[in-house]
Amino acid sequence: MNKRLRPPDKGGGAKRRGISAVQPIRWRGDRLELLDQRLLPDKKIYVSCRTAEQVAKAIRDMVVRGAPAIGCAAAFGVVLGKGSPKAYEALRQSRPTAVNLFWALDRMKRAKDLEAEAKAIYEEDLAANRAIGELGAPLIAERARVMTHCNAGALATAGYGTALGVVRSSKGKKISVIACETRPYLQGARLTAWECLQEGIPCTLITDSMAGHLMSKGEVDVVVVGADRIAANGDVANKIGTYALAVLAKRHGVPFYVAAPLSTFDPKISDGSHIPIEERPADEVTGYRKMRWAPKGVQVRNPAFDVTPAELITGIICEKGVVLAPNRERLARLF
Ligand code: MRU
Repeated sequence: MNKRLRPPDKGGGAKRRGISAVQPIRWRGDRLELLDQRLLPDKKIYVSCRTAEQVAKAIRDMVVRGAPAIGCAAAFGVVLGKGSPKAYEALRQSRPTAVNLFWALDRMKRAKDLEAEAKAIYEEDLAANRAIGELGAPLIAERARVMTHCNAGALATAGYGTALGVVRSSKGKKISVIACETRPYLQGARLTAWECLQEGIPCTLITDSMAGHLMSKGEVDVVVVGADRIAANGDVANKIGTYALAVLAKRHGVPFYVAAPLSTFDPKISDGSHIPIEERPADEVTGYRKMRWAPKGVQVRNPAFDVTPAELITGIICEKGVVLAPNRERLARLF
């Protein structure tokens, strides 16, 4: 086995605390260490950030990604920036769609002790993930084949994961994961597949375009995905391709669940049409890393997220419970 792919502190702290051994974020008092997710699964290297601007850059460049992880990183970024207006501004500008970022910054603004608040945000996210796992597990049948998209695992959170948290909590039921590769940034192929292998969860990787075929063959029992922002009416912004999966799931009668902590809900946004959707660089579509396959000069679109309408969602799993057939009234009761 490639040494670099061994889980960190195997049998150690993280495992003893019942969380995943994958640690995307490590706070060291004077610096924030972020597992460089751009290099996974080939290399496991931590990037060290000592300023808020460095954290903002790490968020923008996808060193750290995934809505709750971005929120946690931004909170520690504020600590490094000593709560200066410049620090807040740099972090606020880093990425637009995941509301956890803005939620964390707003919370930090109200805090008296910045470091204690950032640590609390981190610990609360871990606790929320574990609760989501426990509350979501009863929705997953014995031997279920669980399709997921993007990476909503330990890497995307403080640890444990949301959608993959539900999977982790269902491990005893001999379930397996079908990971959509998640073009163009390949979070499914690079990150979800890696996390599943680390955890000993059987995982089959497919390209995004294979999802409908597998559903039509009856080879998918349930879909569970994460979220970047949930509007007041239950519309969900998540990684590009999620909407297509939800439509397919509806067509084939496959339950479609969204797993997300309350920090991902944005009750101020009335419906999904108002959620800002990040457009990312064209070179993510025309190639990957140093390889290019599209002709130079071709026009490209690269929206990083899409919106799944609430009517396509079987239920939203959060740390307070499962909201079935989410709508404005049912979600309002959460707050
Ligand atoms: O662009 P990314 O990799 O930050 O997008 C991440 C996602 O879309 C995740 O599915 C979402 O943040 C949920 S993570 C628990």
